Amino acid sequence: MRQLIAGNWKMNGTGASLAELDAIREAKPADADILICPPATLIARAAAKGAVPIGGQDCRAQVSGAFTGDVSAEMLKDAGAVAVIVGHSERRQHHGESDAVVAAKARAAWRAGLLAIICIGETEAERLGGHALDVVTRQIAGSVPDGASPENTTLAYEPVWAIGTGRTPTNAEIVEMHGHIRARLAARFADAAGMRILYGGSVKPANAREILALADVDGALVGGASLKARDFLAIAAASS
Ligand code: 13P
Repeated sequence: MRQLIAGNWKMNGTGASLAELDAIREAKPADADILICPPATLIARAAAKGAVPIGGQDCRAQVSGAFTGDVSAEMLKDAGAVAVIVGHSERRQHHGESDAVVAAKARAAWRAGLLAIICIGETEAERLGGHALDVVTRQIAGSVPDGASPENTTLAYEPVWAIGTGRTPTNAEIVEMHGHIRARLAARFADAAGMRILYGGSVKPANAREILALADVDGALVGGASLKARDFLAIAAASS
């Protein structure tokens, strides 16, 4: 399976940031897939450049309506996006998104013809309490709708305590969790073996090669290190 190296710019970037996309186009590796998810304000301009595939960071489940400030999957598609992140822990935390809401957003992504990148992952308290696997099991059951396939869905395991902290799980912990996610998917979906499972949380040029070589790690979802083309390309070049 080709690995996917996806960048999540979060709430960072203005028009000047679009130059990073040109730099990525110049040097992107041939043997990995690349995706950049800029803020909603930049999606149309980023996609129009045609430099790299572009995704959204969130969508609302409804097609349209009186939902001030929200963006639908159809709008992202219309702006040129090919994918959308749903259920990122920052959405779950700051916007109170439940597994049911995340599942509805994933279905909205499919309805619009977008790849849904569904994020899951435990908090530090949950890991320290020995509940990481259980939490992720519950999130998969609630957030990944029936009908998921390698074509319409990618999972992203992002332990909340590893996001933006410079801390990562041990290799053994990543392998255990990704194997667990694969098994949970296989219990529900015939083609789970072909479904990508990305790792996210403090992926940097310095640790990318090691993480991307681990079993059942099919790519990375990169936050801070995706903002500069040089770092993002170094991570992409480390894909296996
Ligand atoms: P960092 O790479 O900055 O830790 O963020 C990870 C993330 O949340 C990507 O969605």
